[in-house]
Amino acid sequence: MTASAIEIRQFDAIVIGGGGAGLRAALQLADSGLKVAVLTKVFPTRSHTVAAQGGIAAALGNLGEDNWHWHMYDTIKGSDYLGDQDAIEFMCKNAAEVIYELEHFGMPFDRLANGKIFQRPFGGMTQSFGAELVERTCAVADRTGHAMLHTLYQRNIQLNTQFFVEWFALDLIRDAEGDVLGVTALEIESGNVVAFHAKATLFATGGAGRIFHGSTNAFINTGDGLGMAARANIPLQDMEFWQFHPTCVAGAGVLITEGARGEGGYLVNNQGERFMQRYAPTAKDLASRDVVARAIATEIKQGRGVGADGQAVFLKLDHLTEAVIQARLPGIRDIARNFANVDPVFEPIPIAPSAHYMMGGIPTNLHGQVVDQDDTGQNKVVPGFYAIGECACVSVHGANRLGSNSLLDLMVFGRAAGNHIVKTVRYQCHKPLPADYAERTLTRLARLEQQHSGASVTEVGADMRKTMQTHCGVFRFPELMEQGVEKILQVYQRAGNLQIKDKSQVFNTARIEALELENLLEVAKATMLAANARQESRGAHCREDYPARDDVQWLKHSLFYSKDNRLQYKPVRLQPLTVETFPLNTRTY
Ligand code: FUM
Repeated sequence: MTASAIEIRQFDAIVIGGGGAGLRAALQLADSGLKVAVLTKVFPTRSHTVAAQGGIAAALGNLGEDNWHWHMYDTIKGSDYLGDQDAIEFMCKNAAEVIYELEHFGMPFDRLANGKIFQRPFGGMTQSFGAELVERTCAVADRTGHAMLHTLYQRNIQLNTQFFVEWFALDLIRDAEGDVLGVTALEIESGNVVAFHAKATLFATGGAGRIFHGSTNAFINTGDGLGMAARANIPLQDMEFWQFHPTCVAGAGVLITEGARGEGGYLVNNQGERFMQRYAPTAKDLASRDVVARAIATEIKQGRGVGADGQAVFLKLDHLTEAVIQARLPGIRDIARNFANVDPVFEPIPIAPSAHYMMGGIPTNLHGQVVDQDDTGQNKVVPGFYAIGECACVSVHGANRLGSNSLLDLMVFGRAAGNHIVKTVRYQCHKPLPADYAERTLTRLARLEQQHSGASVTEVGADMRKTMQTHCGVFRFPELMEQGVEKILQVYQRAGNLQIKDKSQVFNTARIEALELENLLEVAKATMLAANARQESRGAHCREDYPARDDVQWLKHSLFYSKDNRLQYKPVRLQPLTVETFPLNTRTY
């Protein structure tokens, strides 16, 4: 197929990804009268936002005093001071408004007796700058993401958003000046490749937890946006920081919401001890996630785990009563029965940490515009290119995200990016596509078609997951990381020669799996190399050889360029928008 044979479709703006962030941005765009398309590889309501359980944070103060400044402090502390304070102020300040918008869109939040939105405590969310825990997380039982996604999808349908469902975006189109002019994409059913030519291209492609063997992430979370960005020479920021969710069904990796501890659940080891009080004397089971995950991993490592292999601890909910569990945690009861074969009304759930969330991503500013650096290290916006949600790094989560801040991130920056695009593109013309607009895509696809003795997608994928799990987990060891770098570079190399075994397969599944693996490997490589380079422990990045945070050398964001495996660094933005900077402090819970 030659470039001239590829159909071109023209839009004012295209959104890649139909999850919470993409749908929220699409609402602004559809409402503005622009010509907009949302491309999504799964039906929108099957996007991974649907799996978000515990809730969305906003300082509404429905159960006690609260305000956005306290929320801002908690988020900065939670980020281990790597989060950018202007972005965090923007997110926390806008939180109440986006919640009330959702309420007006029809989101069926749980209610208090007085009719206000129900809120529950979540890890690291406090009153009065850390004094005590606060109920800040707005919830729809333990199915908040499900309710959010359906609400936003229906609202988009009402506004006639145009969806391209089961379309897989392949590559960014950039011209000689570096401007982004759209993407190439493949219709999964037919295999047709089309160029989507747009004035604004917005990535909302979600996470990439499938680089790990054990993950709460859906199989669709394959880092497609990051892969496309990396191939187009756009850096990936802070990729060394991955969150391991403390409570996932042992052996299965299925998420058990932090809301379970928010409702009063607690962790015990094989002595029946509530061990969190040794690791976080004040917040205990509701300390920040990195702290709880490390505590569990330590208990297991030191022989206080439960189960036949000792690779779990127990999460106890049985004291909460069946009525509370049924009202607030019905999905957790189902998950525990189906995946752990226990009923939490009567028995504890064996849990262990599992990879959950990528704090890094495509670097952006507060409007969702993608930001690279020029040759002198100055920030420069990549014209026409936006990223939001988990695929982006704005950076509000820094080195460790607080639970229930991710749904908030999707809503606040989805809306902000949508607004910015509307203002920017309305009176713009389309820049012409470069002559080679489809070249990279066609070369990649042709290579996959032609391999007859290449590497198997299944084997290369398994090697990648094993490497990341073994060499880049909750605790990171110097020799293991060095070996991990060697191994992941080898696996990456082998992926240049992937073979599609059964080319006749319906719906192009083998082809899509190979393309997804290429994207995952961009994420895995960036993660492994950035982790090995950062010689300190901060948030979720915990090294045995550098156990302390080092603000002198390492209070900076990493930027990884795939083309030459180059890492460079840029400062953390410590200046908020309107309030005083929160100074660096020791982080205890
Ligand atoms: O535990 C949870 O419900 C997950 C929430 C989150 O990752 O924000």
